[in-house]
Amino acid sequence: MSRLESAIRRLQAQKIALDWSAKKIHKQPGVVLEFGLGNGRTFDHIRKLLPQRDIYVFERKIAAHPDCIPHPAFQFVGDFMDSIPRAIKQLGRSAALAHLDIGTGEKNTSLALAKTIAPFIEKLLCVNAIVVSDQEVDRWRSYKLQLPDGISENRIHLYRL
Ligand SMILES: C[S@@+](CC[C@H](N)C(=O)[O-])C[C@H]1O[C@@H](n2cnc3c(N)ncnc32)[C@H](O)[C@@H]1O
Repeated sequence: MSRLESAIRRLQAQKIALDWSAKKIHKQPGVVLEFGLGNGRTFDHIRKLLPQRDIYVFERKIAAHPDCIPHPAFQFVGDFMDSIPRAIKQLGRSAALAHLDIGTGEKNTSLALAKTIAPFIEKLLCVNAIVVSDQEVDRWRSYKLQLPDGISENRIHLYRL
């Protein structure tokens, strides 16, 4: 598979998983958390899917497309290990959906990061929250959901905690 095909599969998986999750939380109150704003592609998609929700983004340094930068009140800027504890204080267990898009190209580093932040992310989730993650999180294996149709294996992971 070429790198282009691999990137397309990853983006397709992300879109299908986010579309599916947005429908699932339709009747569930709660904010949405986006870990890894990047250039704002998935943030832009989530706000289109869930226009009534407050969406908080977490990013080391905001450098997204100018149209895809949320109001500063919805930004948690800095390393996740600094920003997530601030968010726990400010928001508590308030999220119905969390999207982890934290991969930086080095698989083991990204997996280790997901493992490190997972226990802290749990403190931000309402009961029955859905997590869409680009990294597998072993700690959440018993909460794993079956992937919706159209997603290739190991592109995205879905959990309901
Ligand atoms: C794959 S990109 C996100 C892509 C984005 N969701 C989009 O659709 O455009 C991953 C992002 O996670 C951020 N990131 C990775 N590790 C981080 C950390 N420890 N703290 C804060 N941000 C981090 C990177 O800066 C990068 O922008």
